[in-house]
Amino acid sequence: MTLNLPDLAAMEAFGARIASRLLPGDVVALSGGLGTGKTTLSRAILRALGHEGEVPSPTFTILETYDHLNPPVVHADFYRLEDPSEVEQLGLDHYRDGAALLAEWPENAGGFDSEAACISIHLETANEGRKAVVTGGADWLERMP
Ligand SMILES: Nc1ncnc2c1ncn2[C@@H]1O[C@H](COP(=O)(O)OP(=O)(O)O)[C@@H](O)[C@H]1O
Ligand SMILES: [Mg+2]
Repeated sequence: MTLNLPDLAAMEAFGARIASRLLPGDVVALSGGLGTGKTTLSRAILRALGHEGEVPSPTFTILETYDHLNPPVVHADFYRLEDPSEVEQLGLDHYRDGAALLAEWPENAGGFDSEAACISIHLETANEGRKAVVTGGADWLERMP
């Protein structure tokens, strides 16, 4: 499925759509080059779940947790990882327990495509806006027909 996201309002609406279907254990894998809107879409999802404060980009901290949301969310940016084995040292499995994961640069963490509860969103620039190529694991195909 390819979606046109011509502006920030479209990004907000897409984030809200994902948020309304998000369950513990899910992964939203956000791929695409620098500046394609991965953090913007993460912020839209977090806001739609009711988060009211800042959403710092996890570029430097790698993981940011939002335990007060339903479902709780781990927002990760794996840009700085040099090897997927570093994911274990971060304790990602521990943080993911009972939470949904929003993952920027998922390929640097070895990828999450093999998980049935993973929705993969590849963002690209398109004129002034963005487009998203969306593919879903079995769980998401049922939820977002
Ligand atoms: N759909 C869109 N249309 C136009 N600009 C967008 C869109 N989505 C994001 N942007 C802009 O792109 C810039 C980079 O976005 P960001 O989310 O930080 O990218 P990434 O996390 O992929 O590096 C921001 O200035 C943001 O406002
Ligand atoms: Mg980012």
